[in-house]
Amino acid sequence: KKITIAIDGYSSTGKSTIAKQLAKALGYVYVDTGAMYRAVTLYAIRKGFVSETSEDFESLIAALPSISLKFVHNEDLGFSEMYLNNENVEKEIRTLEVSKQVSKVAAVKEVRTKLVEMQKAMGKEKGIVMDGRDIGSVVFPDAEFKVFMTASPETRAHRRYKELLDRGDDVTYDEVLKNVRSRDYIDSNRKESPLILAEDAIEFDNSDMGLIEQFERMHNYALR
Ligand code: C5P
Repeated sequence: KKITIAIDGYSSTGKSTIAKQLAKALGYVYVDTGAMYRAVTLYAIRKGFVSETSEDFESLIAALPSISLKFVHNEDLGFSEMYLNNENVEKEIRTLEVSKQVSKVAAVKEVRTKLVEMQKAMGKEKGIVMDGRDIGSVVFPDAEFKVFMTASPETRAHRRYKELLDRGDDVTYDEVLKNVRSRDYIDSNRKESPLILAEDAIEFDNSDMGLIEQFERMHNYALR
């Protein structure tokens, strides 16, 4: 019987890596909700609605109906890529520039309402693995399997730093650590659906755990 799997947790805990592997092994659909918040943020940056020094959420809220988001499956990669108004933005949404603005945008109630509605619709059919911050608490409170991933900020910053370097981005470790801490803070303290450990979620600290062990444990849980 197919189930709904909700994977929440702090930024850069490796949620998407595990979620993708699980979805593949189980033949489920994988949805990266962070990509949706990132795409809205990219739109807001391009329009000048948010920057390091300013934010105009009213204009962003007014523009929400003209933001179309779509996941398109890429056969070669084996997973879906994010499209913003029919443009593939998969690479651009992962920059540190977007990471620096995304938690501000994700704290806007109207943004969350729009995205949560889309996410609920995607989950109408069972057999889905969704990762984010509020999946087990808000999007799918009835999910059969909920995971909450954690790891030390330093471990997470190291992983993210390496990822960004591998892509050729010009960043420092300190900058990435600062961003990880700042997103943790904003995500956990915002008024709208803050990041919290759902009562029935399994907490999973992977600071000292390799990918294979993580996958095996989760896969076992999911099949139980
Ligand atoms: O998962 P990822 O790190 O790509 O998410 C980027 C940001 O989007 C998070 O730091 C958080 O501010 C926001 N987010 C959210 N709710 C979700 C997924 C992401 O608020 N379900």
